[in-house]
Formats: sequence, C-alpha cells, structure tokens
Amino acid sequence: MSEMKRLAAEKALEYVEDGMIVGVGTGSTVAYFIDGLARIKDRIKGTVSSSDQSTERLRAHGIEVMDLNATGPLSLYVDGADECDGNRRLIKGGGAALTREKIIAEASKTFVCIVDPSKQVGILGRFPLPVEVIPMARSLVAREIVRITGGQPVWRDDVVTDNGNWILDVHGLAITDPVGMERDLNQIPGVVSVGLFARRPADVVIVGGEPPVVL
Ligand code: A5P
Repeated sequence: MSEMKRLAAEKALEYVEDGMIVGVGTGSTVAYFIDGLARIKDRIKGTVSSSDQSTERLRAHGIEVMDLNATGPLSLYVDGADECDGNRRLIKGGGAALTREKIIAEASKTFVCIVDPSKQVGILGRFPLPVEVIPMARSLVAREIVRITGGQPVWRDDVVTDNGNWILDVHGLAITDPVGMERDLNQIPGVVSVGLFARRPADVVIVGGEPPVVL
C-alpha cells in the first residue's frame, strides 16, 4: 500500500500553487506529500502543520512552518484519512492528531484528502472512531458514547495527544448518519473533538493508483 500512498501524495502536489501557505496533515501518506513538497519548497510561502510529527519532518526538509493565528485562512490543506466514504466524509485520528487536523481543515478553502484504496468504505465505522477527550472526563465521555452510539469505547492508554489529552477509540459502529453522530458526540462535555469529518468533508479525495483516481 505504500506505493499507492506515494502515488496519491504525488498527485496532490498538483494542487499546490505558487506563493501558497499549505496546510499539512499527519500520517504515513502525508509523509510522502511532505517529501514531495520539499522538491518545490521555493515556490511556496510556507506551511501550517497539524502535528509535532509533521512539523519535525517539514523542518528537516527546510520547509517553513507557520502559526495558523498569523496566516489567516489557508487556500489548501492536504491530509490522509483512516476511512473515506462515497461522499468524501472521513474518519481520521488514527495518528491522534485529529483536533489540529480539524482546525486546519476548517480554516482551509480546499481540503484534499490522499488515501490508498484500502481506506474506501461504503459505511464509515469499521475503523474505530477516535475521540479526543479531556483526561478527567474519560469515563464520563465513554459512558455517554455507549448510550448515544451503542459502540464500545476503548481508551488508547499509551497515547497523549499533542494537546495533552487522551483518545477513546469507538469500536463496533456502522455510521449511517455521520453528520448527526459528529454533532451529538461533540456536545458531550469533555469531548475536545471527534474524528468524524462529515460536517466539513474533504473537497477532493485522491485514491492512489496508476493512474490515481480523483473523487
Ligand atoms: C492522523 O491523526 C490521521 O488522521 C491520519 O490522517 C490517518 O491516520 C491516516 O494515516 P496514514 O496516512 O498513515 O494511513
């Protein structure tokens, strides 16, 4: 699958225009995008990064990383996903970077999502849905998730997010109403963000292949 990821990332470089500040996601697919961006780094103004991991890789290539508060709205955000449905709605957060990813997606005019073919699903939910929570609210949020969704939340107890929070992964879901579930889970006190990107789906999905497929 790594070649499929690379092909999707290469295609996404076509969306980068001169002088842009590019929003950069997190994960192994985005790592290929960052490596490609390095080749054209003189054409862009800089980047905004969604994680310490991506920031490190960008800086290692000598690519400038900027503060979203200083850049204003972005033209382009490129990121991977854990699952993608036919309406470009996503599950993200397998790499625990969902909150910053959601912030940058919201701040960006065009969100280009890069995936390998294994990420495509009919109904979201086979991949456990990540929810970032304030640590003291973990049990409360878990109980509410069970009540609202019927799914089984599992604490990712070896992970602390870049924001100092914890992750619950919700197993056993078949998400037939992604917008409704995103809204309902977001309203639980203690939830920082939900790894469903349905209210603000991707604008473009590139599925890696020869040739890549653009949805
Ligand atoms: C990071 O938190 C995630 O949202 C990633 O975008 C997602 O896990 C995709 O990762 P890969 O590109 O490594 O599959």
